[in-house]
Amino acid sequence: MAVKHFLQFNDFSRDEYAYLFARTARIKAKFKAFETYHPLFDRHLAMIFEKNSTRTRLSFEAGMQQLGGSSIFLNTRDTQLGRGEPVEDAAQVISRMVDIVMIRTFEQDIIERFAAHSRVPVINGLTNEYHPCQVLADIYTFIEQRGSIQGKTVAWIGDSNNMCNTWLQAAEVLDFNVHVSTPPGYEIEPERAGLFGQNHFEEFADPMDAARGAHLVTTDVWTSMGFEAENEERKKAFADWCVDGDMMQVSQPDSLFMHCLPAHRGEEVEAEVIDGPHSVVWDEAENRLHAQKALMEYLLLGKVEET
Ligand code: CP
Ligand code: NVA
Repeated sequence: MAVKHFLQFNDFSRDEYAYLFARTARIKAKFKAFETYHPLFDRHLAMIFEKNSTRTRLSFEAGMQQLGGSSIFLNTRDTQLGRGEPVEDAAQVISRMVDIVMIRTFEQDIIERFAAHSRVPVINGLTNEYHPCQVLADIYTFIEQRGSIQGKTVAWIGDSNNMCNTWLQAAEVLDFNVHVSTPPGYEIEPERAGLFGQNHFEEFADPMDAARGAHLVTTDVWTSMGFEAENEERKKAFADWCVDGDMMQVSQPDSLFMHCLPAHRGEEVEAEVIDGPHSVVWDEAENRLHAQKALMEYLLLGKVEET
């Protein structure tokens, strides 16, 4: 049987997400009740980081240990990957020694090539194109606080980056709408976003128009990891794409604000928003832990009976 990977959001079906969201709730409840749950006893996770991380490393490492397994942290600087060993060879070797792999890297092509040569499941912990683990946790957070996301409107304000692309894929899989506003020259590229159609998003020149009536307003840094050389140019281009109180005011009265973090107050979001009443960024960050535990359990054990 083919090994199942999680390389982009549309690798899973709507039914699989329904299972994962229910499972996340169950696994979170166990954690909150201090219940020991070790379904992944003696399973080992390799985490390969080619970019920095706080939340992704912490949530995968703590999560694997909480499930009874262990994790090994690898980065480009200390491994042969940083000295040009082919990713295909690394995949063959690493996947003979561990049960599951999480990778944070640059181009999506790198993780696709790794997965094609891996004997074990591979999880995308962020690439230039996608960040599916984050959107998994974000949508779980929305459901936890507001119920089903189907038919709802998500406003994406800012860069057409890995988070934006993943929200656009999620809208197709889970049947909701994304209202996107990006500065001129930074528009979404449906092919790069891996979209099937054009029916689940709408583009707005003015970020206020994208925010109007939205159930969830979300944004991300103006300059993603790997694009630092463009920082000064981006600061000028993105100056009007800052989520502020006025944007939240025109969204739904009970709208949520999310940000994958790390955030830059005064750039993509004002402090009054990220630290204000609509913001659920700390719950969102915590839910990375619970959602990824459900994800690893699913990739390694398949659907489990209610426990
Ligand atoms: N949101 C997120 O992935 O955070 P890190 O870069 O800290 O892992
Ligand atoms: N878009 C950001 C997300 C960081 C978690 C980046 O890729 O740097």
